[in-house]
Amino acid sequence: MTEKYIIKGGTPLKGEVSIGGAKNSVLKLMAAAILAKGETTIYNVPDLTDVDIMLSVIAQLGAKTEYNKEEKSITIDATEITSITARYELVSKMRASFVVLGALVSRCKEAIVALPGGCAIGERRVDFHIKGLEALGAKIKIENGYVHAKVPKLKGAEIYLDIPSVGATENLMLASVLAEGSTTIQNAAQEPEIVDLANFLNTMGADVNGAGTSEIVINGVHPDKLHGIEYTTIPDRIEAGTFMSAIIATRGKGLIKNVFPAHLTFFTNKLLKMGANIKLIEPNSLEVSCKNRLQSINFVTQPYPGFPTDLQSMAMTLLTVSDGVGIITESLYENRFMQVPELRRMGADIHQDRNHAIIKGVKKLTGATLAASDLRAGAALVVAALMADGSSTIENLHHIDRGYENFENKIRLLGGKIERRNEEDSSSVNLPEGTHNESYL
Ligand code: EPU
Repeated sequence: MTEKYIIKGGTPLKGEVSIGGAKNSVLKLMAAAILAKGETTIYNVPDLTDVDIMLSVIAQLGAKTEYNKEEKSITIDATEITSITARYELVSKMRASFVVLGALVSRCKEAIVALPGGCAIGERRVDFHIKGLEALGAKIKIENGYVHAKVPKLKGAEIYLDIPSVGATENLMLASVLAEGSTTIQNAAQEPEIVDLANFLNTMGADVNGAGTSEIVINGVHPDKLHGIEYTTIPDRIEAGTFMSAIIATRGKGLIKNVFPAHLTFFTNKLLKMGANIKLIEPNSLEVSCKNRLQSINFVTQPYPGFPTDLQSMAMTLLTVSDGVGIITESLYENRFMQVPELRRMGADIHQDRNHAIIKGVKKLTGATLAASDLRAGAALVVAALMADGSSTIENLHHIDRGYENFENKIRLLGGKIERRNEEDSSSVNLPEGTHNESYL
């Protein structure tokens, strides 16, 4: 069923919001759970469609899975793995599931995993994943859209990544946990989700060192050393950054709870430079507020600890109404400015030239009918609609549902005027202010 948001902008968001578990961590922890015979329970699991897809992938491999949505926990019993194939029907729905490749090769010495294919935000190749597995001794064939990896015994190796790819670092960590000898990943990704995966693996009995730096060393262990565990996922820094943006955009004041502030240092510093107020209240709580018009800034998206590409669209939304001209350079993806045409429809003044965007701040945005093109572009449109004059409709919510748990409920708790509606019950929306029935808001 096609669903959409109806949002009436202009209300400052106020109150408290609690951040859920990190999507980009939990998906990889689920893949890691298949390395050990035994039962693993992961806590702080966000209720997202991407988590449901990953659960189907893991179940298809023969592991027993149980998802307790109320407790926010997933239990995976990977004592038996009965299939080495991750099918296209699932992998094409969510690229992150490609990470089962490393775990399967590690555990079963063979894996057949569908290549994820294209993606709205960029080409997103997996060549580093493949080259790294080859360096560990796997023979790789690409046939009929699938990667077929086979190896009698994985052997530790020195691997250098051309780009600190998050997915390649994770796949290679998973592949080398049970390899013979030691593996070094040079120019490894340093994201907090990598550290979370390393902590998870070490709790399981693996020997992973250096996660969070550019050099990760994995000393292979015997399979008998790995065992099922209980583990709690880190908070979602991108969800936290999205709510920080929404509160600031609407000139509100709110407490962001269950956040690891250190994971957002670069982003927070940029917001402070723009004129927002951000205070550490407790180790895991940030108070965020904004009274005056923000000042424009420039930034370049970079791998962690640089400015996160996943918050680029949120920051662009803030720049659309800031004082001055801001320049964004997107250095990770070829096509991550999909929010631009939609923001322009709301009155934003944005000039885009390849991976550069020049944003001249206007006084205000006005509500419009908008379409989410991908997860983060969609969330940025929600932020834009919350601060705009008048009502907006945002279509294609399935993109947003991939990465934001209870999004509209959390926004409503902060006082935001947002409703989820089915395509069928669309009464009058998006007419000029005052001409339509707003009773639903
Ligand atoms: N790249 C290659 N070859 C490879 C791997 C990557 O050329 O073999 C390129 C990609 O095309 C891209 C760049 O390297 O241009 C970075 O890609 P990376 O592998 O680091 O990203 P990812 O693992 O595919 C994860 C997150 C993304 C986030 C990026 C960067 C998950 C599930 N996804 O993707 O999150 O943008 O890291 O931080 O962890 C999102 O949550 O909305 C999202 C897209």
